Amino acid sequence: MMSTTASGAVYAYGACDPARDDFRPGTFPDGFIWSTATASYQIEGGWNTDGKGQSIWDVFSHTPGKVQRGDTGDVACDSYNKYREDVQLMKAMGLKHYRFSLSWPRIFPDGTLAGGVNQDGVDYYNKLINELITNGIAPIVTLYHWDLPQALHEKYGGWMDEAIVDDYHNYATFAFQTFGDRVKFWLTFNEPMVFCTHGYMTGEHAPGIQDGTMVSSLRCGHTVLKAHAKAWHTYNTTFRHLQGGKVGITLNLSWKEPRDPDLPTDVEARDRALQIFNDWFAQPIFGDGGFPPVVEESLRQLRSVMKLEGLEFSDEEKSSIRGSADFFGLNHYTTRLVANKPIDIKTQTVLESFEETPAPEWPRAQSDWLFAVQWGLRRLLTYIKEKFGDPEVYITENGWSGGDVQPPVLEDTSRMCYYMTYIDEVLKAIEEDGVKVRGYTAWSLLDNFEWAKGYTERFGLHYVDFTDPHRPRTPKQSAKFYSDIIANNGFPEEAAITNMVKDIWMKCLAPKAVKDEL
Ligand code: GAL
Repeated sequence: MMSTTASGAVYAYGACDPARDDFRPGTFPDGFIWSTATASYQIEGGWNTDGKGQSIWDVFSHTPGKVQRGDTGDVACDSYNKYREDVQLMKAMGLKHYRFSLSWPRIFPDGTLAGGVNQDGVDYYNKLINELITNGIAPIVTLYHWDLPQALHEKYGGWMDEAIVDDYHNYATFAFQTFGDRVKFWLTFNEPMVFCTHGYMTGEHAPGIQDGTMVSSLRCGHTVLKAHAKAWHTYNTTFRHLQGGKVGITLNLSWKEPRDPDLPTDVEARDRALQIFNDWFAQPIFGDGGFPPVVEESLRQLRSVMKLEGLEFSDEEKSSIRGSADFFGLNHYTTRLVANKPIDIKTQTVLESFEETPAPEWPRAQSDWLFAVQWGLRRLLTYIKEKFGDPEVYITENGWSGGDVQPPVLEDTSRMCYYMTYIDEVLKAIEEDGVKVRGYTAWSLLDNFEWAKGYTERFGLHYVDFTDPHRPRTPKQSAKFYSDIIANNGFPEEAAITNMVKDIWMKCLAPKAVKDEL
């Protein structure tokens, strides 16, 4: 679908440019899911408590120079001890869903079933799940949010070796068996693109492998797709009829625009960027079972230049991966402009064939990669609908970071602006474009350990004082704001929340107002 804007620029996917920045009041469909999210390593702490094994993030954060200020997840938000309080925070917000992840090495300390189950770890998750359910909150569980058992990394290189498919499968099966009577919503993996590139190409995340050839990250991606499909098939054949839940995967997709939409080379460069970053994992699962053409081409080149073996899917593997998700889990944060960059294909990879930049007017969060471009979400949702067979979409993360400043920013207008403008784009995508978005998740319930940035970037709806051993939580204004959206199921005409949004809408879209707070 192409549309022409008032200025004559042509955009693929997503019409409506003249009204792009307008507020659209309205409510979400009945049964729409509102949630918040966290991840085990980012909030739990208890890194060596009660029999837990080490994860690659324990080792990475304990390695000098890897995480800003030397921050670690040793205590984090101490949710290992404070989970009851977390549940009360959610209850106070009127949340009926909560997305969190299981720490694999808390359950299988050396990563394997044969190595034994850590009953204390299982008890912890049972207590958390039961506490949630008692308080009317349904758990959404991610099996893998980056904290790989260190033992599996040492044994065979983690995701670099297909031996992990069986170990992951044992872990996933154990989780379905143990928690699936109460957990009806599973995510096999969080953002494979991020952990395969940051962990196995740039090395900025655990386990810190640097390999600019892309071979290691492609290997990781290959293994993850197989592991995902195997877990989904097991749920589908063995557990679904007993437990009646859903299993999907969470992919991180950003939106991309050609920097100059009138320049065919920029449009092509944008398409390459979308194929690599958005379709690498989406196409095998939600498309035809194979990698997108640009990724296939890179693999062909790597095979000829490096005599690379494997990394191909057989027809049987492709058909097992194709369709192996009950819904599309989407983490979305931001948008980029993409321009073409000529390369020498003998020495450079496709990743160097384009350049990504923000537009100068886009407001930036504390995170240097995060720019508020709310309309990008609507275009992306239309892209997913059109390219991947109109799946049910659950937005499993979306959020905005502030800095670690004193006094803390509790009147977090920029976060409220981000949430209201992005949530309104979801409403437009549902009502005007017919995208089947079924749920929305704010990242994050709490300020937490932001990977290599440590505690310097705060994404929480609640402020956490990391200097206090008790890790007290304080709601920010955005927590109240989000809970009002939930209570109203959106922005009904004449509701107080809607009037408030109308009042601040234009201020939110003026970049300066948002920047001032940071
Ligand atoms: C996602 C990730 C989260 C969180 C968030 C903000 O990529 O899944 O764990 O860190 O980004 O950067």
